Amino acid sequence: MKENKQSQSPIILAIESSCDDTSCAISAKGKIRANVVANQTVHKNYGGVVPELASRAHLSHIIPVVDAAVKEAGIKTSDLDAIAFTQGPGLLGSLIVGNQFAKGLAVALNLPLIAVNHMEAHILAHFIDEPSPTFPFLNLTVSGGHTELVIMRDYFEQELIGQTLDDAAGEAFDKCGKMLGLPYPSGPEIDQLAKSGKIKFNFPEAKVGEFEFSFSGLKTSVMYFLKRELAKDPDFVKNEINNIAASVQFAIVKTLVNKTLRAAKKHQLKQIAVSGGVSVNSELRKQMESACKDIGAELYLAAPKYCTDNAAMIAMAAHFKYLKSDFCSLKTAAEPRLSRQNH
Ligand code: KG4
Ligand code: ZN
Repeated sequence: MKENKQSQSPIILAIESSCDDTSCAISAKGKIRANVVANQTVHKNYGGVVPELASRAHLSHIIPVVDAAVKEAGIKTSDLDAIAFTQGPGLLGSLIVGNQFAKGLAVALNLPLIAVNHMEAHILAHFIDEPSPTFPFLNLTVSGGHTELVIMRDYFEQELIGQTLDDAAGEAFDKCGKMLGLPYPSGPEIDQLAKSGKIKFNFPEAKVGEFEFSFSGLKTSVMYFLKRELAKDPDFVKNEINNIAASVQFAIVKTLVNKTLRAAKKHQLKQIAVSGGVSVNSELRKQMESACKDIGAELYLAAPKYCTDNAAMIAMAAHFKYLKSDFCSLKTAAEPRLSRQNH
């Protein structure tokens, strides 16, 4: 593959397929020119992503999504300097679709390949639009699969200081939503319902290490709470859905904000960034803004389309990797449990 003709203003085509969104983005000189995302609706009634259905949907979405991104960016494939893909972490079958498609394109166009870590990309999404944080900064990543506090010292230099011991924050939203009869993913639905609700019910916070998270206890306490209340009034969920949503959301957001702020204070970091699908949550954004104001920290929140899974963040990470000639070979396999470079 040609790695000799290195451009200082590369045009990169990036593919993201780690879970249930098929996405392709094009970046030019580190600026996003296209970001096309095809969401999968097949999982709606299953309460979570069904891996087999996800890989099949990626197969049918990938060609139209890549075509649409190239068209939207107004480029020809001969303009491209590199092809990037999400190597992991994620669902194996889903990752393989993006991985193999990217390899096929790279071979056909004789271009170098760049493998991107999905979790690093969620954080590097903060460099897509201005203002971006400067190093070092503290990042909270909250998605369907992860809840992590990371100190970012450089683009690919990071220290993981805390994570969840069980369920991720997004998973907590989704599982509580499922108990309330809401479709998957329930995070956006709970966010919406909570807007007209009150924090009326109290759910206990898990007692874990200083920067650790645990959300499985919340799920259990919501389950017993609903059982108890439904035994007294079969219409309890129907009548109280907004208040339950507001209370569950408050319990999740409170822990996320408190731990992040404590970590920022302890590590004397004055810039806090939040990434991943749950960072779209309006209450989390509001509470983070007010907490950061209180301690005089700057808060960085990416545009919602760059918080949930998207290929623009993969293109951004790939741009920084391209500049340091960090290419991979055709042997680079999909890694469902891929860990970070440094932590
Ligand atoms: O980052 P993401 O798109 O995919 C993963 O890498 O997991 O995150 C998906 C998660 C889901 O759990 C979804 O319920 C949650 O993000 N989510 C939200 C909101 N929008 C998406 N959770 C709470 N409030 C939202 N507005
Ligand atoms: Zn993600």
